[in-house]
Amino acid sequence: MSTGTVAVILAAGKGTRMKSSRAKALFPLCGKPLIHYPIRAARQTGIDRVVLVVGHQAEMVMAAAEGEGVSFAVQEPQLGTGHALLCAEDALRGFTGTVFVHCVDVPLLPAELLAEMLETHRREGNAVTVLTTVLPDAGKYGRIIRGEDGRVLRITEARDATPEERLIREINAGSYCFEAPLVFELLHQITPDNDQKEYYLTDVLALANARGARVGAVIAADPGQVEGINDRAQLAEMEARLRAQICRRHLLNGVSIIDPATTYIEDDVVIGQDTVIHPSTMLHGATRIGEGCVVGPFSQLFDMTLEDGTAVISSYVERSVLRSGAKVGPYSRLRAGCDIGPGSVIGNYSELKNTRVGTNSHVHHVGYLGDTTVGDGVNIGAGTITCNYDGARKHPTVIGHDAFIGSGNLIVAPVTIGEHARVVKDREMPEEK
Ligand code: UD1
Ligand code: CA
Repeated sequence: MSTGTVAVILAAGKGTRMKSSRAKALFPLCGKPLIHYPIRAARQTGIDRVVLVVGHQAEMVMAAAEGEGVSFAVQEPQLGTGHALLCAEDALRGFTGTVFVHCVDVPLLPAELLAEMLETHRREGNAVTVLTTVLPDAGKYGRIIRGEDGRVLRITEARDATPEERLIREINAGSYCFEAPLVFELLHQITPDNDQKEYYLTDVLALANARGARVGAVIAADPGQVEGINDRAQLAEMEARLRAQICRRHLLNGVSIIDPATTYIEDDVVIGQDTVIHPSTMLHGATRIGEGCVVGPFSQLFDMTLEDGTAVISSYVERSVLRSGAKVGPYSRLRAGCDIGPGSVIGNYSELKNTRVGTNSHVHHVGYLGDTTVGDGVNIGAGTITCNYDGARKHPTVIGHDAFIGSGNLIVAPVTIGEHARVVKDREMPEEK
């Protein structure tokens, strides 16, 4: 037996209007699958226990939620939102308390609104509290039908509504607080006698009223906060809105973003003060950028760590570290596992993979270094290529401190080049007597 508050997130639907082979729950919004957002809102409100109802592409949705610490209930086949919540009954057997139910396709529900729902639900002693909002055009949303005294009586889906009901502008936002175990008892009573022949969760409201249980509502003042994603156009609009919010947060924190409209920063990215982000730049994943850095224009960073005073100009870099004052670009690529030492410069048209570069070393022009360790004060000339792969295995290259590698060298690994060594073409060598 357990009490308190749990969250159930309905994510079993296909999302027909996305017109995709992929379940809606899996679509990314600012780099994270849609299912992440309601889980986050529940956690921010202090709800520890979250049950995710999965069905369409269940395996993939479960995999995408891995690491979120949720449990799963499977809905197969998908017979409607009411049936979806009923599928969580077993997972919540013995639970007494409030079940917060939210749909996966309303990602930006603020935690404050969720907290307000819980607060109202408790204060009014409701059996059901539904989140609503008022829209200028209520479209396909379920309509909130209130009695003359203003109490919520029931919800009618737009397709089942009478012409008069369809004029109602207060709509069901798709989030609810229910008391358990009552809600499961009522869910067993619902029938699929509606236009879609589905078991509607919304029918619980009329059943609760018939029982004499209290039904209440919280009206979201800003409809934008409860907007659903039903097609890719809405997803793109939501993405733009979330992206603008993230940029604004950084701007107010002292980061210069020259053109927020073309700057894409994922939610977990950290950026220090006085860093300048130039246009058409994308910062992904767990990227951390220090103070006084310059990034972009036209740079894409994935899970990068940039110490203070570094720069990444027009380059594509991933899972690597730039030590303070290091500079990459323009037009370079860092693949995973690079560590570029303080003050070092990786210049135009260079590609580095799994390569460690010491302090104040230069790889100024066109080249490839793979599985290489470069010391301090090394100069690597244009067109230097480490041939690290023999077709079967990868081999390392080591270049000692203060070595000078002239232009156009193919270094066939495994090779170790000592400190202060010079590797230059014949014509650069002093003439032999
Ligand atoms: C639902 C509401 C509607 C409300 C709208 C708000 C019902 C009957 N209608 O309509 O009143 O205005 O949300 O966005 O609930 N799902 C399952 N299993 C199913 C069906 C759906 O898990 O069998 C999940 C979906 O993955 C989705 C959510 O439930 O997360 C809502 O389903 P959807 O089909 O989008 O409902 P709407 O028609 O939008
Ligand atoms: Ca929907």
